[in-house]
Amino acid sequence: MYPQQVLEEVRTQNDIVDVISEYLPLKQKGTSYFGLCPFHNEKTPSFSVSSERQFYYCFGCGAAGNVFTFIMQMENDTFPEAVKRLADRVHMTLPEPQYTAEAKAQQQQRQRLFAMHKEAGRFFYQKLHEPMGTQARAYLQKRQIKENIQKKFGIGYAPNDRQGLYHYLQQKGFSQEELQKSGLIVERKDGKDYFDRFRNRLMFPILDIQGRVIGFGGRILAQGEPKYLNSPETLLFNKSRNLYGLNFAKNTRKREMILVEGYMDMISVYQAGFRNVAASLGTAFNQEHAKVLKKYADSVILLYDSDDAGTMAAQRAITVLVQNGFQVKVLQVPDGKDPDEFIKQNGAQAFSQLLAKAVHYITFQIQCLKKKYDLNEMTQKVAFTTQAAEILAKLENDIEKAVYITEISRMTGIAQSAIESETTKIRQKEEKTFYENAQEKRQKEFARQKTAKIISSKGILQAQRDILFLCASNFQIYQKMKEVFFSKDFLEPVYQRAYEKIAFLYEKNGTVFPAELINYFQQPEEQRMITEIFAVVSKHATAKDMEKALNEEIRKVKKANLDRLAAEAKSVEQIQQLLMEKRKADSLYITITDG
Ligand code: CTP
Ligand code: MN
Repeated sequence: MYPQQVLEEVRTQNDIVDVISEYLPLKQKGTSYFGLCPFHNEKTPSFSVSSERQFYYCFGCGAAGNVFTFIMQMENDTFPEAVKRLADRVHMTLPEPQYTAEAKAQQQQRQRLFAMHKEAGRFFYQKLHEPMGTQARAYLQKRQIKENIQKKFGIGYAPNDRQGLYHYLQQKGFSQEELQKSGLIVERKDGKDYFDRFRNRLMFPILDIQGRVIGFGGRILAQGEPKYLNSPETLLFNKSRNLYGLNFAKNTRKREMILVEGYMDMISVYQAGFRNVAASLGTAFNQEHAKVLKKYADSVILLYDSDDAGTMAAQRAITVLVQNGFQVKVLQVPDGKDPDEFIKQNGAQAFSQLLAKAVHYITFQIQCLKKKYDLNEMTQKVAFTTQAAEILAKLENDIEKAVYITEISRMTGIAQSAIESETTKIRQKEEKTFYENAQEKRQKEFARQKTAKIISSKGILQAQRDILFLCASNFQIYQKMKEVFFSKDFLEPVYQRAYEKIAFLYEKNGTVFPAELINYFQQPEEQRMITEIFAVVSKHATAKDMEKALNEEIRKVKKANLDRLAAEAKSVEQIQQLLMEKRKADSLYITITDG
């Protein structure tokens, strides 16, 4: 989207230590800075920031990257959003983003689809208010949705007409191809005709966060299946990313969101005066939903149906929400009703009182657990308490934990101290594995850094290029070389392949043309590396000098490669073996000149 050069400019203008310091306190230790990792829970700092390498790395959870990835992770930004944010930070004006022809075409298609959905929404809205909409209006009245709310949500009616919308949109100038891409029109099975997807349904436009129509949900007016019919996935509509009503809810700026299951629940709760409400439409609440929601809320009240399906869906949503750092409370409407029915029956006042009864998700989990066991039975009581301890071990707050322990002790008659020591045991076990994992990661990272240092050191890279250059330009040298130097001796996989290709080209042509060699490498980065091999000018006065230099380089590369392998070695025997080979490499010499 932006030229590499612009990205580099933004990156270098935003010193990683300064940027990260704006999010968390960092302490200097040597050339690095340390702090508590913002990406996982921890008590001792394992998050390091290197000023020299402009890089961060967490020894605990493995999070790593540069200033762009930090902002992306921290702010839930896309890459271009992060670039923009950092450019703004240093008052840099970005050039107009450059799009590929393909991206431009897609953008145009999206604009057309937005326009079409807007027209379709208008069409449905009009139909609701025509005589044919009588039944639908009666239905809305029965469900007690006030007119101002109907209007706000753009509720409409899809007439019982095979091609009403189809013809309307054609008249508005949309092409057949565009109409099919929208999902509003469906192809007949024999492929010979098209008809409206939504017929005789109450229509709910689905809006994106900016309030643009991206799809529809249509509810059947009488009994029948499916009760709700939604737009299919299109260029605009992705149901695992959109939360119904979030475009309105976000305006409350409350940072607390009520999450419900359905269209009608969302609308009813909103109408009752609680405007911070959104619904995940007919799909489980997932990671993508959480990422979107995180921009507008830190805490969530889950208000799902109280049937088994709703309880299971709530359990899953809890896991996702907690993982994404939300405070989570859960509320279940009594008597198996959904929020919409509750409000209709009891009014907004009662609903407000109900909301106040939302419980911490741990309480909810323990309540669910309790339903599975008969606490009068000895063994079931033990099983229940053990599982409850697993749940409690996850609590950070000791006071909260104490409250729950008291409660479980009261429910089961098991001593508080026993439950407490069980949670501590679980906690210690988890911490131990966490620590061991971190330790292992730290060792791996140490080896990785060492390897990276060896591989990227300038001299080693140049030595590999010189070897390849001489091999490719002189068959005699190559013949001597292949006796002692093997493709696995190169540190760069690209150069390993290049060496093999040189052998192949000698077989094939008796000589190596650089341009032909490059043809075997398709990635721009690989091509660059191959080109660099031939960018050398011979700097040796005599053949003898050249021979000496080459031998030095052979030894250097071989030894560097052995060092790299040693850094990654898994046993003492392996290291000893590598040391032996290194000594052998020291006495290596090939003669290519006669004198
Ligand atoms: N849903 C769906 N397709 C279905 C059934 C349900 O997409 N065939 C989605 C809808 O988003 C619906 C939500 O799941 O709003 C919850 O379903 P349900 O509880 O059955 O519907 P309600 O919202 O209670 O619908 P209503 O009150 O209109 O009966
Ligand atoms: Mn309902």
